[in-house]
Amino acid sequence: MSRLTVFADNAPSTPIFASEDPTAIAAELKAIGVRFERWKSPVALSSADDADKVLAAYKPYLDTLMGESGAGSADVIKLTPDHPQAGALREKFLSEHIHTEDEIRFFVHGGGNFVMHVNGRVYDAHCTQGDLISVPAGTKHWFDAGDAPSFTCLRVFTDTSGWVAHYTGDAISARFPVTRPVAA
Ligand SMILES: [Fe+2]
Repeated sequence: MSRLTVFADNAPSTPIFASEDPTAIAAELKAIGVRFERWKSPVALSSADDADKVLAAYKPYLDTLMGESGAGSADVIKLTPDHPQAGALREKFLSEHIHTEDEIRFFVHGGGNFVMHVNGRVYDAHCTQGDLISVPAGTKHWFDAGDAPSFTCLRVFTDTSGWVAHYTGDAISARFPVTRPVAA
């Protein structure tokens, strides 16, 4: 289940907001410019399906996303616990950074946490299958799917160079271990 937990950025052990209600999550995130939606999937895919099959199955979603965002390209990122670069990729996404374009993800399978750092608060969004999240350009954030990552995501890009991060050098993510529902 999707969940949003909000903290003051100097108090990682004291949530000031927590919800698993998609409408409440979307409203809270909208206030900081982050788009969050639950999309019903018209297709049932196996987690073993390759990127081409995922892209083909989700073409209507991609067309919508790319039409709304002006994005020019899309791909699929898939991580499994046995991925040889799972640890290295986790480190790459885990340090606070910004992008010069919106970071738009749709979770086809599995889940992970997008954590935004805005106006002295930390917004930890645990996203799951069927969640769309769009983090605006320039918003400080990081991503973590834990030490056994399991997710398949659609990504759309406006920047032709793909995923490019500008790290802030702030070690804040180390002070905010991501929160996940117990059953996840
Ligand atoms: Fe990012």
